[in-house]
Amino acid sequence: MEAAADGIWLVDPDGRTVFVNDALATMLGYPADEMRGRFFFDFLDADARLEAMHVLQRRASGESVPDDFRFLRRDGTSRWASVSIRPVIDAQGSFGGAVATVTDMTFRRSLEADHHRLLQEARTAIELRDAFFSVAGHELRTPLTGLRLALATLSRGLVRRPEEAVEWERLQRKVAGAESMVNQLASLVTDLLDVSRVSSGPLPIARTELNLTTLCASVVDRFHEQLNRARCPLALDLAPEVVGRWDESRLDQVLTNLLANALKYGAGAPVLLKLTASRDEARLVVEDHGIGIAPEDQARIFDRFVRAVSEKHYGGLGIGLWVVKQIVTAHGGRVWVESQPLAGARFSVALPLG
Ligand SMILES: Nc1ncnc2c1ncn2[C@@H]1O[C@H](COP(=O)(O)OP(=O)(O)OP(=O)(O)O)[C@@H](O)[C@H]1O
Ligand SMILES: [Mg+2]
Repeated sequence: MEAAADGIWLVDPDGRTVFVNDALATMLGYPADEMRGRFFFDFLDADARLEAMHVLQRRASGESVPDDFRFLRRDGTSRWASVSIRPVIDAQGSFGGAVATVTDMTFRRSLEADHHRLLQEARTAIELRDAFFSVAGHELRTPLTGLRLALATLSRGLVRRPEEAVEWERLQRKVAGAESMVNQLASLVTDLLDVSRVSSGPLPIARTELNLTTLCASVVDRFHEQLNRARCPLALDLAPEVVGRWDESRLDQVLTNLLANALKYGAGAPVLLKLTASRDEARLVVEDHGIGIAPEDQARIFDRFVRAVSEKHYGGLGIGLWVVKQIVTAHGGRVWVESQPLAGARFSVALPLG
């Protein structure tokens, strides 16, 4: 009996403990001799005792009920154990007490609780992802529709009969429009690829010597058109030479995402792009005067698929800032936001220079 992994409990015909093995004594936290002479019910707390009575009564009337009991250990903690009891009949055929085997269930119960929690988390993640796919579908469709219209106009412009042809300038505008739709599609697809790439492991970073000032200038150049369209005058405040070893295309993405947000959420108001350097870090600031972010959303927006605005008013996938955070973190840097709702937002990125 001492060799058994489960607890073994012998009681006399009055129900007093005659013997417990070490496994049971350890399970309940008592020295074995302290348990001798006491009743099974002495090792349950008041509530557990009532429950146990119930279980035993139902079992006595032939029902099959789960056989878990909550024991009160000597140190006051509780422990779930499953108990199976058999009467002991002696050689003369009279009732000689009972023997119970007791299996500790606390571990299994905590496993079950873990499973439950994991299942819940997985469900939430799947719901988030489904919502994301539906938003992504809409986002992809918008430039596609534009592209289709532009191509229809173009093909009409290619007809032979001169009186049906579309005029030259209109065609040029359509080609430019189609190009910009294709660019939008391409950057959406890049974002989508990032989502799957980053979730499957840490983001790979290819460091080369990079002048951040030059990079800022070239990204701003690319934004010229969009800045005009959003009626956002851009103020530039760039330290002359900020050089470090960073991943150029990744930092380009960081700047692009921050500027795109500033234009989207701060249209019609000035935007500031500032680059400074101290002895050990470079700091980028993108500041707008748009709708701002509520305090309770300021940490959340860096998570994947999280958006703090309604789909009706602003398009977007909710991954821009998440990508920014992955990239900055992979460089050993930090990104944070300061904002007042309705007054604007200031995003800062700090990158170690060493
Ligand atoms: N400059 C800003 N001003 C106000 N709110 C902002 C700003 N930048 C981000 N946000 C908020 O943070 C959320 C997450 O931004 P994020 O860039 O990750 O996604 P998005 O802009 O909605 O979509 P996308 O993935 O296309 O960039 C936004 O939906 C918006 O609610
Ligand atoms: Mg964005």
